[in-house]
This record gives sequence, structure tokens and C-alpha cells, in this order.
Amino acid sequence: MLAEALLYARARLAGQHDHYGHLAEQVAIWARHRRQRQAWAEHLTRARALCLMAAEACTRRRTALVLGAGVLLDVPLERLSALFTRVVLADMAFLPGTMRLAKRLGNVELVTADLSGCLDTLPDAQALAARTPAPTPNLSLGLPGLDFVHSANLLSQLPLHAVAALHKQGLGPPACEDDIEAFAASLVAAHLSALHALPCPASLVADTCERTLADDETLHSEIDLLYGVPLPFQGKTWTWRLAPRGEISPSLHTQRLVLGAPNIRAASTPPTGGPHA
Ligand SMILES: C[S@@+](CC[C@H](N)C(=O)[O-])C[C@H]1O[C@@H](n2cnc3c(N)ncnc32)[C@H](O)[C@@H]1O
Repeated sequence: MLAEALLYARARLAGQHDHYGHLAEQVAIWARHRRQRQAWAEHLTRARALCLMAAEACTRRRTALVLGAGVLLDVPLERLSALFTRVVLADMAFLPGTMRLAKRLGNVELVTADLSGCLDTLPDAQALAARTPAPTPNLSLGLPGLDFVHSANLLSQLPLHAVAALHKQGLGPPACEDDIEAFAASLVAAHLSALHALPCPASLVADTCERTLADDETLHSEIDLLYGVPLPFQGKTWTWRLAPRGEISPSLHTQRLVLGAPNIRAASTPPTGGPHA
């Protein structure tokens, strides 16, 4: 707890904001990884390998952009920095370790941006009820010479802060919950459309489903992390041992199903929106 508080304080002193709780969440991910390094290792190795394979397939290597770079656990930043002239990391916040590594590598820039494009303009109850979908963001961020974009386990996270902010505004169950879930689904769909619209190859690693199981592997609960939005492409799949027994419960363990797609534009049709849209 002390290490987390100190890290959070250092990030705030370094100028990082935490309007929607992204900084606190990154600190929590950093701390959870320290506890679960071994359990997470296989997932992180696979996620990094997929990103690297996708990057190496790019014939032009001017600018690479990593969306949801966060604490860089699943991002092979040194390799990307060696492959591309310029690497841009985008997220809502950055921890001091990410800032230090970016500075050391020399060709890495940090861009603080809301990649959903709508956290500051969330719908009100009327727009939610009208099922107005989230706008499709421009994920090229206006960067010239963009030759590669990687979405680094961001997809399932995009709705979380929007839903939390809507709940904080007093919107939510029972009146608006279905509308909020429809909006969350539209955020997922908007990210997929935006990746598809990029002028360069785009890869994606995304957790799609969370399962909590008992010791004997009986299913205790299952959550669709993408709010019912189907992924319009195929890829490699694997399991992330997110919370082995003891992390969140003495008798249950939680895992996530992960999908990695090295070039979503080559392997898909444009998404058409969420199931509730
Ligand atoms: C599960 S973490 C991804 C892990 C990260 N790639 C890493 O290796 O540490 C999701 C990341 O998405 C970022 N994120 C969530 N919503 C965002 C938004 N609206 N705009 C930008 N980044 C966002 C979070 O701050 C977090 O760093």
C-alpha cells in the first residue's frame, strides 16, 4: 500500500492528472503485476510477441502508435523503438517509469489523450435513452507518417471509466442501466471501427471475457467484457491467469480470455455497431 501511495504521489508531482481514475488504476495494475508476476507472465509474453510480430511485418517504419500503453507490461517498447523512427504512446496517464524509459530511448513520445473521445462529453439521460452511440474517434491522432498502430489491451477498458462517470452523475440502475450498457457497447464498437479506418496496419490485443471459477474449475461467474459486441475478426486466443486463488477470494480464481489479432484490417470486415445499438 505504501509503495502504491508513493508511486501515485510521484506521478501526480510529475504533472499527471487523474480526472477519471486512470492514474489510480495504472498504479493498481502495477501493484497487481508485482504480486502476480508469475501468473501473468505467459499472457504478457504472448501479448508482446503478437505486437512485435505485427510491427515487424510493417514494410514502412516511420511512426508507430501504441494505444493504451499504460505501464507497458504488454508492450515491447525497446523493440518498437529500435524498429521505428518514432514511437508514440497514448494513454490517459503515465507513471514515472514509463516517462523515464521513453526519455532514455530518445525516440519515444507520450501523448495524454482520451482514446474514447467522449469522456468529457458523455451523454445525458435523454441521449442515453435515445441510444445515441459513441462517436468514432480518430485514432491516428493526426500523426504524420503513421505506419503501425497497436491497441494494447485497451478495448475492454474503454467503457469502464465512461460507465463509472455516468454512474457518478446519478445515472444508472434501475432506470438507465440498459441504456448505459448500450452506450458501453457502442464505445467498444466505435474503437473497432476507428481501428479499421486507420490508414496503416493495426494490431489488437483484447481481453474479451472474464471467468471466475472454483478450485474444481466449476464456473462461478462469467462476464462479457465487450458488452456483447462480437469481434469482427479472428486471431490467436489464450488465457490470462488474472487473479489466482487468494488474490480476490480464498476459494475462487479469475481468468480472462484474450484475443490477439496481428492485422485486424487484413482479417476483418468493418464492424457495424453493438448488439444494442
Ligand atoms: C488493461 S490496461 C492495458 C495495459 C497496458 N497496455 C500495459 O501493458 O500496462 C488499459 C489501459 O488503457 C488505458 N485507458 C483506459 N481508458 C482509456 C481512455 N479512454 N483513453 C486512453 N487510455 C485509456 C488505461 O489507462 C490503461 O493504461
